[in-house]
Amino acid sequence: MMKNKGLIASVVVIIAVVIGFFIYQTMNAPAKTSKKAEDKVQTVGILQFVSHPALDTITKGVKDALKEAGYKEGKNLKIVFQNGQADQSKLATMSQQLVDKKADVLVGVATPAAQSLANTTKDIPIVLGAVTDPVGAKLVASLDNPGGNVTGVSDQPPVASQIKLGKELLPNAKTVGMLYSSTEVNSKYQVNEASKTAESLGMAVKEYPVASTNEIAQTVQVMSQNVDFIYIPLDNTIANAMQAVVGEANKSKTPIITSVDTMVEQGGLATVGIDQYTLGKKTGQMVVQILKGADPSVTPVYTFKEGVTVLNEKQAEFLGIQIPDNVKKEAQIVGNK
Ligand code: TRP
Repeated sequence: MMKNKGLIASVVVIIAVVIGFFIYQTMNAPAKTSKKAEDKVQTVGILQFVSHPALDTITKGVKDALKEAGYKEGKNLKIVFQNGQADQSKLATMSQQLVDKKADVLVGVATPAAQSLANTTKDIPIVLGAVTDPVGAKLVASLDNPGGNVTGVSDQPPVASQIKLGKELLPNAKTVGMLYSSTEVNSKYQVNEASKTAESLGMAVKEYPVASTNEIAQTVQVMSQNVDFIYIPLDNTIANAMQAVVGEANKSKTPIITSVDTMVEQGGLATVGIDQYTLGKKTGQMVVQILKGADPSVTPVYTFKEGVTVLNEKQAEFLGIQIPDNVKKEAQIVGNK
């Protein structure tokens, strides 16, 4: 009897240990696989069109958003960054390199970079970083229904508000000069919009397209004699040469209304614009969505509803412009950088 009891006890203990082991295994198994998925390294290829303060800020926002979503370089993320330096053939070569590296998601920062990526692959998802007019640039079929491997963020700015602000700060202005690059589709679109508003406010419009960076300084010199203020759209070529533009315009104290805060910081007078860091962050968040499996063809392009008024007070003083209180009240004041 005593012997039997001992045997039963041992059997119970053995059974308990075996059951316990299986419970332990099943409880740990799913945890193990999910850890593996997290550790999978995904590759993001970023192609930036050129260096200027706005695009540099956007790229930084993209990287920060990835970090915030738990993607760590060297752990579960590889970022391959390329800067095309405004050179079409470099853009094409770099696009091919990013595709060859088997990137999981590509990011095109500014229209020409996005176009180059889109020409290179129809399979790898592409996220647009700050493309003014994705439909006009033939990157998506429509903003709500992109239809292919491309979606992202459009930075279409409040153009009418920008021109109206110019008229409010410069009530005597009769002629606006449009300064932009003839090779950027994003600018052409915006200049058309701005011209309509300017004319509706009773101002005449003169267009000054430049074919290359070399022509900018001389063009601004000519403009300064013929217009009451200069308007600059979201043009990468001009943004890249902003220092020279401000230098020339300042010689004749010609005010500049820009489309972005970074250009106001560089000596523009004012804008109603979209914060470039926020723009980059939003782009990065879409990259995360796509990395997690969202389908670009049915993911709508994100657009911003309104901008922030940004004023360079020092520049206003230099130009001898009195800023109305109602404008100043709602504006963010920046200084020269
Ligand atoms: N929207 C521009 C494009 O489509 C890129 C851009 C973003 C930009 N922010 C800017 C250009 C600021 C000039 C200044 O290419």
